[in-house]
Amino acid sequence: MTADHPKSFDLARLLAERGGERYDLHARHLNHQLPRMLRTIGFDKVYERAEGAYFWDTDGQDYLDMLAGFGVMGVGRHHPVVRKALHDVLDASLADLTRFDCPPLPGLLAEKLLAHAPHLDRVFFGNSGTEAVETALKFARYATGRPRILYCEHAFHGLTAGSLSVNGEEGFRDGFAPLLPDTAIPLGDLERLERELARGDVAGFVVEPIQGKGVHEAPPGFLRAAQDLLHRHKALLIADEVQTGIGRTGDFFAYQHEDGVEPDLVCVAKALSGGYVPVGATLGKDWIFKKVYSSMDRVLVHSASFGSNAQAMAAGLAVLAVMEEEHLVESARTTGELLRSRLAALVDSYELLHEVRGRGLMIGIEFGRPRSLGLRSRWTMLQAARKGLFAQMVVVPLLQKHRILTQVSGDHLEVIKLIPPLIIGEPEVDRFVRAFTAVMDEAHNGGGLMWDFGRTLVKQAVGSR
Ligand SMILES: Cc1ncc(COP(=O)(O)O)c(C=O)c1O
Repeated sequence: MTADHPKSFDLARLLAERGGERYDLHARHLNHQLPRMLRTIGFDKVYERAEGAYFWDTDGQDYLDMLAGFGVMGVGRHHPVVRKALHDVLDASLADLTRFDCPPLPGLLAEKLLAHAPHLDRVFFGNSGTEAVETALKFARYATGRPRILYCEHAFHGLTAGSLSVNGEEGFRDGFAPLLPDTAIPLGDLERLERELARGDVAGFVVEPIQGKGVHEAPPGFLRAAQDLLHRHKALLIADEVQTGIGRTGDFFAYQHEDGVEPDLVCVAKALSGGYVPVGATLGKDWIFKKVYSSMDRVLVHSASFGSNAQAMAAGLAVLAVMEEEHLVESARTTGELLRSRLAALVDSYELLHEVRGRGLMIGIEFGRPRSLGLRSRWTMLQAARKGLFAQMVVVPLLQKHRILTQVSGDHLEVIKLIPPLIIGEPEVDRFVRAFTAVMDEAHNGGGLMWDFGRTLVKQAVGSR
C-alpha cells in the first residue's frame, strides 16, 4: 500500500516513529497538566494494547481496567462484534450525512433504545453526554415555556456552558460565570423541590439516579415523589443516565430500580457506542419533540452536524446486540453484588474503610477518620493538607503494585469509584479484592512506603496552594 502511495498517510509508521513522544507532545500542545499529574503520581505508563477488561504495557504486563474510560467501555475494549460493525459500516461506503435524506441506522437505533424505555417515543442523537444534557435542557425550556432548571448539589452533567450551569460543584463553575440562572437543591430534598416549583418558573429537574461524584443514590421513593411534584407543577423530570445507563447499575436505566418512575427526558451517551465513536442521545416524550419541532420551518432548530452519523449508529446497534446476547445487564447486577458484598465484608476489618455502596457495577468505597491514635494523626495530617489525599494514596498502589486502574470519585472526596466494563466476572472480582485487601493491610499495619507517598502528596498539595 505505502509502496504504491509513498506520500499517503501511514498510521502504523507514524505511531512507530513518533509514538515515543506521547508525553512530550501533550506537555507541549495539549493540556500540560495531564502529563504533569501523571508523572507526579507515577501513572506515566505506556500502554500498548487493550482487550476486554485489560490493557497491556510495553513490557507485556497486564492491567485490570476498573474505570472503563470513565464508563464508555461498557462492553469491554475492542469487542469483536462492535469492531466488525465498524469495519462493515466503513466497507459499505454509505452515503452518510447527506443531511437531506433519512438513513436507516438512526431510526433502527432509536427503535432499539426506546424499547428499553417504552413510555418514551423519540430520540435526538448528538455526540457526547454533555450534548445529550444540553438537548434536554433546551427541550424542557421550550416545551414548558419556562426558564429555570433545578439540579442537585454535587451533580455532574457535563462541562459545556448549559450543563455547567447545572453542575453542583464550585470547582468546576468557578471563573466561568455568567452561567444560566438555575438552582441547586440537596439530593433527596422534596420540600425544597416543592418550594422551588411553587415559584412557577421551573422547566424541569435534572438528576442522576446515582450521582457519579461520590456514588450517592437518591433516597428510596425520591424519584417517584419528585416526578409527581414536577408533573403537578407542569415541569419535567430529566434523568441523566449518561453514566448510569446501558446496564451499568444492573437495570438498563438506573431510574428503573424504582417502580413508576417515567422521566420525561432521558440522557444517554458513554457506553452506548462501545467506546469507539462519540455519541449522545436524548430520549423524550412525543409531545416534547412535537413542540420543539412544531413546524417545517423549525426542522433544524436543534441539530448537530455529526449527529446520527453511521459509525456511531452502527456501533450503538452492535453494543445493544452484545448487551442482549451476553446478558450484560444481569451480569452487571450479579457481578456487582458479588464485588460490593465482598468489599463491604472488609469494613469491619479496616478502620479507615467506612462504607461500600452503589448498585450493579457502579461502586463507591468511602474512607474516613480512623479510631486508633497512630492512624488518626496520619489521617489528620493528610486532611489538613487536602481532602481526598488518602483515596489518592490507595489509587496509586492499586495501579503501581497491583496493576489495577481506578479513580478518586471527585475532587476533595475520600471515595474511590469502581466502574469497570460490564463483562468482568469472578476472576476480576478476586483480583480486585485481593489487591484492595493488600493495600488496606499496608495502610493499617505500618506501610511506611504508602504513608511516605502520602507525605509527598501533602507537600505537593501545600505547595500548589
Ligand atoms: C452523569 C453525567 N452526565 C454527563 C456527563 C458528560 O458526558 P461527556 O463527558 O460525554 O460530555 C458525564 C460525564 O462523566 C456524566 O457522568
